[in-house]
Amino acid sequence: MTDTAAEAGDAAARDARARAVRATGAGVASPAAPVIRTRGLTKRYRGGRPAVDGLDLTVPAGSVFGFLGPNGSGKTTTIRMLMGLIDPTSGTAEVLGRPMPEAARTVLPEVGALIEGPALYGFLNGRDNLLRYDRADPTADPRTRRARVDEALARVGLAAASGKKAKQYSLGMKQRLGLAAALLRPRRLLVLDEPTNGLDPQGMREIRLLVRELAAEGTTVFLSSHLLDEIEQVCTHAAVMARGRLIVQGPVADLAASARGRLAVTTPDPGDAARILKEHGLTGLSTDGDRLTADAPPAAVDLADLNAALVGGGVRVRFFGVERGSLEDAFVALTGEGFDVAG
Ligand SMILES: Nc1ncnc2c1ncn2[C@@H]1O[C@H](COP(=O)(O)OP(=O)(O)OP(=O)(O)O)[C@@H](O)[C@H]1O
Ligand SMILES: [Mg+2]
Repeated sequence: MTDTAAEAGDAAARDARARAVRATGAGVASPAAPVIRTRGLTKRYRGGRPAVDGLDLTVPAGSVFGFLGPNGSGKTTTIRMLMGLIDPTSGTAEVLGRPMPEAARTVLPEVGALIEGPALYGFLNGRDNLLRYDRADPTADPRTRRARVDEALARVGLAAASGKKAKQYSLGMKQRLGLAAALLRPRRLLVLDEPTNGLDPQGMREIRLLVRELAAEGTTVFLSSHLLDEIEQVCTHAAVMARGRLIVQGPVADLAASARGRLAVTTPDPGDAARILKEHGLTGLSTDGDRLTADAPPAAVDLADLNAALVGGGVRVRFFGVERGSLEDAFVALTGEGFDVAG
């Protein structure tokens, strides 16, 4: 097959998938029918504080939803409850409008999931692992099995390595194979727990592209991650967890905007600049070489006056401006702990 023919084939397969997904009703972004909804969802493992504590989560249909939080904040525990793998201590979870874990049998075939490393047979090669997964799906047509498996392998960039035994796969290759298993059939929802774990930068980029492509086809994607810039690049919505509790959720653009920006000044006179900014009531000052930053002043303060005060005080200013808050700023401000593991 020529490259163009292969591309045309890919496009046809994509169209077919998009049609199949539409036929199942995904991609209809109705705020009234979230794809995931939890109410007071709580999990208490034996002893200690709850791993997940009164979680009210709403994942809109058609969103790419980033589930953020430091290590141990309850992300995987939440995902396990959503997928019916463990029972909540209290509260409720609905996936695709049906209660979990009660409706697991009908819900799970429409959900592709990759949770903390896929279950693979090490002695089988990548392709045979996928053939096994596909065979386990009673709705999968055996006549198109090979084509489906080959397409899934190609989608995650494993075509060339598909003959290698899974136990010889690197962490990133195992992650890719798990993702391929989740992609064997069109899904209304993909749940990915740290999908870029173990991937190299190129692999991360490919996953990002893949997530965007799936979202464009109408699949809702729920993914947990530590990588805030990844979330910022790929997600439409996000939720932030800390110590088992939901801190905030909403559109990514709103979350990033909620973070106060930082005033940044570059100057060969950082000591004088810091003194003058402090005199003008600025807080959160920090100096790194010739770069000084502070919490952005309230809107009532005219930046021009502030700059004039610096220059008038003999400070030679090379750069002066307010830098927009990032999702990372919002995250650190909201969790108050950065990425430290809570005890
Ligand atoms: N099987 C278990 N038994 C007891 N405690 C558990 C179990 N699994 C998780 N926990 C505890 O529940 C809390 C939340 O863990 P969880 O794995 O959900 O966090 P996470 O946000 O996924 O973290 P990470 O980013 O490291 O994957 C932690 O305090 C953890 O120690
Ligand atoms: Mg986890």
